[in-house]
Amino acid sequence: MSELKQVTHIDNVKLGEDKASVRILDQTQLPARTEYLILQTPEDLYDAIFELKVRGAPAIGICAGFGIYILARTIQTEDYDNFYRQFCEYRKYLDSARPTAVNLSWALNRMERVVIEHKELGVARILELLEQECMAIQQEDQEMCRAISEYGLSLLKDGDGILTHCNAGPLATSRYGTALGPLLLGKERGMEFHVFADETRPLLQGARLTSYELQKAGVDVTLICDNMASLVMKNGWVQACLVGCDRVAANGDTANKIGTSGVAILARYYGIPFYVLGPSSTIDLNCETGKDIAIELRSPDEIKKKFYQQSMALEEVKCYNPAFDVTDHTLITAIITERGICYPPYTESLARFR
Ligand code: MRU
Repeated sequence: MSELKQVTHIDNVKLGEDKASVRILDQTQLPARTEYLILQTPEDLYDAIFELKVRGAPAIGICAGFGIYILARTIQTEDYDNFYRQFCEYRKYLDSARPTAVNLSWALNRMERVVIEHKELGVARILELLEQECMAIQQEDQEMCRAISEYGLSLLKDGDGILTHCNAGPLATSRYGTALGPLLLGKERGMEFHVFADETRPLLQGARLTSYELQKAGVDVTLICDNMASLVMKNGWVQACLVGCDRVAANGDTANKIGTSGVAILARYYGIPFYVLGPSSTIDLNCETGKDIAIELRSPDEIKKKFYQQSMALEEVKCYNPAFDVTDHTLITAIITERGICYPPYTESLARFR
């Protein structure tokens, strides 16, 4: 297998052959180590999502689909009501692992719908249908990423300089990724892009994952600290910004990794198109605007201690550590989904594409 294919077709989340486990590539160990984890219990699954061992909105959804399926198989009853009650407890627990990426609850809702809609078929048949559903979630994600990559690529020119934030590559999805998809697809077709990857403080998804994926794929990538984005834009080295998304409100306001909205503001200042790429499952029409999106707050230790040998601030210093921010829809040039490219006004274009 070529190095490029090894990246685009990475098996980051997989249903175990025993159907009693989920195998994930532990993203917290990259780039130093390629380690796989076997998840079996509700706590294993919750911890893997909460600790970002599996991360990226679509990958979280895929893991949750497989996760709720293996947990459903452990429910020891033939009685539908008992089964459904226990299923809902597991569902609620997994859903509480992270609040911002809508793909988590979207995948769990999809699985729950199978249970509700096939009540009369009995528990054994419902389990078969649940297996089909979680496999379909992953399969569909591969197709969506491929289509997003094609639409995204149609907006770029060979030789373009691209800036990206966080990680929206194959590791965060099933295949190709969303924001990195056009770059990897372009590479397959012999195109050359020059990518600036924001390191993405505080968890360094850009440094640890995006630069790793692109470098391995043979794409020209340069890692920068987040506060260098303005300079590379001013130097004229960036022709487009490509980012992923965790939840898109009905008006186009977009939650993505903390720091994304700053990139969008800089891009507007320097007249650079700012594109958001994500599957239609990330559009949440129940959120009217970005104000309705719950933003995950994480531990101060991620800022002060993680990745350092000693604390970088006094123990008593307060930290504010939101994991995501919301980019105002007015700063977004287009939102690219597997169904096509949405332009403003987003209230109309997103409603058509969801
Ligand atoms: O906290 P993370 O690493 O899960 O945040 C991920 C992002 O913000 C990604 O950009 C988003 O999930 C899109 S992944 C295709």
